[in-house]
Amino acid sequence: MITASSPLATRCSLSDPVISKALIIPAAGSGKRMQRDVPKPFIELVGQPILAHTIGRFLKLEGLNQIIVATSSQSISRTEGILQELIGGEISWSCVEGGTERQYSIQNALQAVADAQLVLVHDAVRPFVSLKSIKACCEAAEKTGAAVLGTPVKDTIKKIDKEHFVEETPDRRFLWQIQTPQVFKTGILQKAYHLADEQNYFGTDDASLVEWMGEPVQVVQGDRHNFKITYPQDLEYARALVKKREC
Ligand code: C5P
Repeated sequence: MITASSPLATRCSLSDPVISKALIIPAAGSGKRMQRDVPKPFIELVGQPILAHTIGRFLKLEGLNQIIVATSSQSISRTEGILQELIGGEISWSCVEGGTERQYSIQNALQAVADAQLVLVHDAVRPFVSLKSIKACCEAAEKTGAAVLGTPVKDTIKKIDKEHFVEETPDRRFLWQIQTPQVFKTGILQKAYHLADEQNYFGTDDASLVEWMGEPVQVVQGDRHNFKITYPQDLEYARALVKKREC
């Protein structure tokens, strides 16, 4: 058995090549559910916009050499300001214009990926993802081609009809709530987006396009701090977490 401390493990890690990575951050949403004039990624969270907190979580990731943010045309210059302040010379960065749906924002950003073995997609409004979870998801994607973070659902989930009558109660042992990052070998994600565009397929996350193509996607257990800031209550909770420096 190879353990982290065995001589073979040490030899392997010394000779392991660094996997090159590009990070896409979709930040072009209007954030209607937040009931604010400022789009969610630019709302201040204890002295810094949410987007800056989020990007900061990735800066120590080995092999990360490109960051692309998709944002609305009105937000491009403030996004560039944030990136310039945050990112040192060793990582290249750019902004692209997002689309009317998240899928179109990612599609635009994918065209700017220069040369990376893995592409990570992470929502601008998930500022509490841990480096440990990011690394675990990258390692799984390196092996399987596609991996996403998630947590088992806490509540019972019911499928309902238009009149709100229950149609089905799926076995919750097999239900997971999916987060980002979603990590892919670059060729797989490019092919999925290309085919989805060609055949007008629409999914609610990146992995669903890869699943639709018939490729496997592995779910890696993350943690519940990696929630998406969506409603005003999420913002209150996020502020409390940052102030307490809990994650
Ligand atoms: O709307 P939702 O909360 O699902 O958005 C998740 C992420 O996708 C957010 O960071 C948001 O800014 C981004 N998004 C985007 N382009 C859109 C819609 C959402 O980049 N058209």
